[in-house]
Amino acid sequence: MNQQDKMNQQVIDALRQTVASTYALMGQLHLCHWNVRGNSFFSLHDAFQAQYTEIFTAVDEIAERIRAIGGLAPGGLGALAQMSGIKEIAEDATADQMVAHLLEAHQKVLSDVAIVREKAGEAKDLATEDMMIGRKQVHQKAVWMLTSYLG
Ligand SMILES: [Fe+2]
Repeated sequence: MNQQDKMNQQVIDALRQTVASTYALMGQLHLCHWNVRGNSFFSLHDAFQAQYTEIFTAVDEIAERIRAIGGLAPGGLGALAQMSGIKEIAEDATADQMVAHLLEAHQKVLSDVAIVREKAGEAKDLATEDMMIGRKQVHQKAVWMLTSYLG
């Protein structure tokens, strides 16, 4: 394996990690969308839906980017959960606990995205880098919103 192949493989590995954490976040958003209770039900129920809907499209594009650069995409709930590094929240968690939990999950995705971006930069893979800059903006916006909710 030459140096460029090694760098490309690092991009693939980092993208696979990002698919796992992004997918796990989507699952947690769903769980919270379904189970959130209390005064903020309507706003949080809708906000979580908006986030998982956006992520559903995005994670498909990230997985397909892996295929486009020669790797295989990870999949399956068990494998993704194991790879993701994202904890699962209790079904009966409070709204505030859910928001704090999702905030942490978005931050984990952001750190995975940052690693892809760094590796893609080294590999001169501008398309992957560009995709990750877009993901960074989306997750940073979510972090801002969830942080603001918590006050
Ligand atoms: Fe729904």
